[in-house]
Amino acid sequence: MLNWKKLKKPIIALAPMADYTDEPFGLMCKKFGAQVIFREMVSADAIAHGNAKTFKMLAINKKERPVIQQIFGNDPKIMAEATKIICKISAPDGIDINMGCPMQKVVKNFHGAALMKDAALAATIVKEVKKAVKIPVSVKTRLGWEKKDEILSFAPIIEKAGADLISIHGRTKKQGYAGEANWKIIAQTKKLLKIPVLANGGIFTREDVNKCLTATNADGVLIARGALGNPWIFSDTTPTLEETIKIILQHAALQVKQYGDYGLILLRKHLVFYFKGIPHNKIIKTKLNQVSILSQLENLLAELLTEQHNIT
Ligand SMILES: Cc1cc2nc3c(=O)[nH]c(=O)nc-3n(C[C@H](O)[C@H](O)[C@H](O)COP(=O)(O)O)c2cc1C
Repeated sequence: MLNWKKLKKPIIALAPMADYTDEPFGLMCKKFGAQVIFREMVSADAIAHGNAKTFKMLAINKKERPVIQQIFGNDPKIMAEATKIICKISAPDGIDINMGCPMQKVVKNFHGAALMKDAALAATIVKEVKKAVKIPVSVKTRLGWEKKDEILSFAPIIEKAGADLISIHGRTKKQGYAGEANWKIIAQTKKLLKIPVLANGGIFTREDVNKCLTATNADGVLIARGALGNPWIFSDTTPTLEETIKIILQHAALQVKQYGDYGLILLRKHLVFYFKGIPHNKIIKTKLNQVSILSQLENLLAELLTEQHNIT
């Protein structure tokens, strides 16, 4: 069974990202060395109500493990019930509770980051979910709802409630995803806790990983946007153009395996990120957004490679 305290440090993990950190992307990041994969949040209410579409999001490939399934909600009993159901369906290696999502549709229901405003409720959720399962239960949260030092009182409450790990995004809910992540406050919080801490926010390169670890003294990091179109951030290598194209095709093949040809439509949002690092013309960009079968993507990428060779 996963034991956060015993994992090799530093823990370099893929952060949960709705619509991105599914099985194919998890496999890609794992291939490049991500030690732990956090699966995107699923609604505890939807799970408890038997929503088939949400069940599908739980898929885990054993090659991705350890995989942590994140849930969101605010009713301790429903969250505990959902956790039990998830464990029966996909047996994740850990459960993570979302206490950081800033999206209006989430916080208006007092889910996600809103839980930072009610530490007693947040603690009860941790306790109930812990009681429901034997696997580790963690919390992912932010510096605060409004002020950047709220975490200094919130994190010890979460630890006392029994959380096995806490991941801290170095921004407040008010900041959303903008501005620099504040790693100093993460460092201050780390000093107050005995449980392992993962630092998150603003890690876009391998260098950033080291800088963040030094600045926070955290047990590891969670990489989010820095992994999009860039799964090799988990390794020490930077692929050549030829290698990048192979990586994209591997990702595409996994998408098709998981979702059929529709997987290529779902891949488009990843292609935008992969192509940030590749010089290309507008025509190719337009064609990329029309790809609907794998051979089209293969041809397009071959075309791009020839074009690049002709330029250089
Ligand atoms: C598209 C997208 C989806 C996200 N979905 C989730 C989610 O499901 N659960 C969660 O805890 N955080 C989610 N996040 C937040 C990230 O995990 C991370 O905390 C945030 O992006 C800050 O890290 P970064 O600066 O390295 O991107 C999401 C972020 C993005 C960009």
